[in-house]
Formats: sequence, structure tokens, C-alpha cells
Amino acid sequence: MAQRLHGKVAAITGAGMGLGKAVALLFATEGARVVVGEINEEKGQETVDAIQAQGGKAALVQIDVRLRQDAERLTRDAVEAFGRLDVLVNNVGVQINKDVVDTSEDEWDFVVDTNLKSMFLCSKYAVAQMRQQGGGNIICISSLSGLVGNGLQASYNASKHGVIGLVRSMAVDHAADNIRVNAVCPGSMNTPLTETIPEEKLAPYREANLLKRFAAPSEIAPAALFLASDEASFVTGSVLVADGGYTTL
Ligand SMILES: NC(=O)c1ccc[n+]([C@@H]2O[C@H](COP(=O)([O-])OP(=O)(O)OC[C@H]3O[C@@H](n4cnc5c(N)ncnc54)[C@H](O)[C@@H]3O)[C@@H](O)[C@H]2O)c1
Repeated sequence: MAQRLHGKVAAITGAGMGLGKAVALLFATEGARVVVGEINEEKGQETVDAIQAQGGKAALVQIDVRLRQDAERLTRDAVEAFGRLDVLVNNVGVQINKDVVDTSEDEWDFVVDTNLKSMFLCSKYAVAQMRQQGGGNIICISSLSGLVGNGLQASYNASKHGVIGLVRSMAVDHAADNIRVNAVCPGSMNTPLTETIPEEKLAPYREANLLKRFAAPSEIAPAALFLASDEASFVTGSVLVADGGYTTL
């Protein structure tokens, strides 16, 4: 089978677990050299080891995506390790389930900084590098919560809507630099993020999706692969929804 990312270098944030790990493993299988940007060193190293065990090339950059210096280091270390940066997947996301009254200012800042500001920061340095190289590709993971309102997710909803705005803005600004920018909106997945949420809160999401189940991260990762590949050469500023039909009705 053709390796759709042969010769490319891809940095993926939050690739130690969940969707980010599934994207990292799939991209490596498709020939990419993978940079794992992860706050949890142990989990990040596990992803690197798994890629190397299957014969791929990977490097760990331990970062907190909320910090400007760390975001800058992600691009710098990718270039140092593999000579270039072709694809950035802004994947990290956290969730606090509260309305605006119960959300503290610190909680708001934590969610919005982690989910949205981080994507601005990581993209800022990646775009500068991609420009120099003559092009690149950025994929931001939003959510069905970037498309509709969900109960008790004020900060998460706001951040995920913001991600789509940032994607559209960057797509406009950097098309002339040959940089494509797109969003993926997953529906509910079985990952460590959802494992922390009580079943009674998860059940309505399962019921409201047409397929009546949650996705495995490996069912969402191919959406990111498509956008990262040359098969999506005419796709920019788009929002690829993979939500089991949740937002259809
Ligand atoms: N799980 C779902 O049901 C679901 C649904 C829709 C969208 N999403 C989105 O998909 C993306 C991935 O979600 P997931 O469920 O795989 O999450 P997860 O919690 O399972 O994994 C997130 C990873 O990011 C890392 N991380 C957390 N904070 C970090 C930081 N500040 N800097 C660097 N790394 C950090 C964690 O260590 C972890 O490895 C997120 O953007 C999330 O909002 C998830």
C-alpha cells in the first residue's frame, strides 16, 4: 500500500494517549517521521517506543502546549531531529463540565489556554517554519462541541468553537504560503478523557448519536490522515465532522 505521508515530518501534540496516540501511530505507519509533543513524559515515550518497535522514526519533545517557549521548542526540536516540519496536528484538549456560574476564572483560563491558546502558539512557530520550507499543513482537533451547544460545557464549548474560527482565519492568511489548515470535529470517543466522566453524563451523547456508540480513536485518526495527505490537496479551511451523526438531527 502507498505510504501517504512518505518523507513528511509530523508533530502531534498530546500524542501520549487517546486520539493523539492513534494519529501518531497511523501517521508513522503511513511513512511520516513523528514528533510526539506531550506533557506526560512516560506516556509520550511509550508512543515513541511503539513507533520505533514497528520500524518507524519518532522523537519525544516534552512540552506543555500552554507555554509559548514550549510551543516554540516543538517546532525547533522537530527541525533539529528530522530537518523540517511538514504537518502539525494540534490535538491537546481538556474538559471541565460546568456552566458559567460554577466555572471559576482559573478553570476558564485552564480550558481555554489548553484548548485554544495552545493551538495559536504551536501554529505560530510551525507556520513560520513551513513558510520558509515553501508549504505545510495544520490540522486542529475541535469537537462536536465546536459546532453545537452542550449542557455544562461553557469553557469547552467556547474553546472548541474558537478552534474552528482560528482554523478558518489561518486558512485565509496562509493559503498564499501553500499552507493548508483544517479542523476535525470528532464525536465522543473512548479515551482517557471520557473515562473520567461518569456514565450518566456520557449516556445522552451515546443516545444522541445515530450509531448509538462511541468511536475508537482509531476511527477518527484516518480523518486527520486524509487532511494531512496530498489526497486533500484542494482542502483548506474545512471542518471534517466525524461524530457518528450527532450533529445531523
Ligand atoms: N474523547 C472524546 O470523546 C473527544 C470528543 C471530541 C473531541 N475530542 C478532542 O480530541 C482531542 C484528544 O482528546 P482525547 O480524548 O484523546 O484526550 P486524552 O485526555 O485522552 O489525551 C490527551 C493527551 O494530551 C496530553 N496533554 C494534556 N495537557 C497537555 C498539555 N498542556 N501539553 C501537552 N500535552 C498535554 C495528555 O497527557 C494526553 O496524552 C482533544 O482536543 C479533545 O477535546 C475528544
